[in-house]
Amino acid sequence: MSIDIEDFNHWIDAWTFFFNKEKSLVELDPNAALVSSVDKEGKPNARVILVKTVSEEGFVFYTNYESQKGEELFANSKGHLTWYSRAQGVSIRVQGKVKKIDPKLSDEYFASRDRNAQISANISKQSKNVESREILDQEFQSFEKKFEGRDIPRPAHWGGVMIMPEKVEIWKSRDDYKTRLHDRIIFSYSENKWNKSRLYP
Ligand SMILES: Cc1cc2nc3c(=O)[nH]c(=O)nc-3n(C[C@H](O)[C@H](O)[C@H](O)COP(=O)(O)O)c2cc1C
Repeated sequence: MSIDIEDFNHWIDAWTFFFNKEKSLVELDPNAALVSSVDKEGKPNARVILVKTVSEEGFVFYTNYESQKGEELFANSKGHLTWYSRAQGVSIRVQGKVKKIDPKLSDEYFASRDRNAQISANISKQSKNVESREILDQEFQSFEKKFEGRDIPRPAHWGGVMIMPEKVEIWKSRDDYKTRLHDRIIFSYSENKWNKSRLYP
C-alpha cells in the first residue's frame, strides 16, 4: 500500500520516513541534496551538498563559510534545500533562514572526519581560482608535512550551516502516474505553528 503524504502531521515525520527508506535503497549518497542561494544581483546558484543531521530545528551540512554558497547564504540569511529520491518518487523542498551552527558541534564533526578531508578543509579556498592542479596538490602536501604527528585544527572558515525551515513541500508521485496528478503537501510556519495545505500538482 502506498503512503498518503497528507497523513503526515509534521514535515519531519515525512523526512524521517522517506530518508530512512532511502538509506536502504540507495548505497551512494542518499543524503545528497541541492542547496540554493542567490547572488548580489539576484542570480540563482545551486550546488550539491551532503545533509549530515536533521532535527525539527533544521537541516545541517558542512562547508566553507567563505565559499560562494557561504557568502550568498549569509548575505541575506536565506537558503533553500531540495532533496530528491528517484527510487521513491519523492521530493522534499525546504525554504528557510540560515545560520552557522554552534562552533563546538562543528569541532566535533570536524574531529570525526578523515585526516585527508581535514587537510582539504584547511587548504581549500573553496570557489576561488586556483592556478593549477599542481599548486593544489603542493598546498595539500606542505600542509600535511607541517602537521605531521599533530592534530589538525578546524579552520574558522569551515563548519556547519543549518537551514531552518519556514516552508517545506513534500511531493510524491502517485501510482496512477499517467494523470500527473501527483500529491503536493506544504507545511508552512506561521503564528507559532506549522500549517498544512495541499497544492495543485
Ligand atoms: C555528491 C556531492 C556531495 C558534495 N558535498 C558537499 C558538501 O557537503 N559540502 C560542500 O561544501 N560541498 C560539497 N560538494 C561540492 C559542491 O557541490 C560545490 O561544488 C562546492 O561546495 C562549491 O560550491 P559553491 O562554489 O557554490 O560554494 C559536493 C558535491 C557533490 C557532487
